[in-house]
Amino acid sequence: MKVRIDPERCQGHGRCYDLTPGLFTEDDEGYGQVVRDGVVPPGEERAARLAASNCPERAIDMSEE
Ligand code: F3S
Repeated sequence: MKVRIDPERCQGHGRCYDLTPGLFTEDDEGYGQVVRDGVVPPGEERAARLAASNCPERAIDMSEE
């Protein structure tokens, strides 16, 4: 599984990196960024879904890769 953040949608709410700092981080302006190219390690799929469902802007996309 892979996650990505749509920079057009992200408004910097920060829930993604607050909830799942292993998968997301923030840039200098507080906008979300993925870590490790967005690859979700085994066992962290649930955390990825939690982050995606908590983003108020629905800016987090998940894909099966
Ligand atoms: Fe951006 Fe959503 Fe995270 S708005 S900072 S991707 S919670």
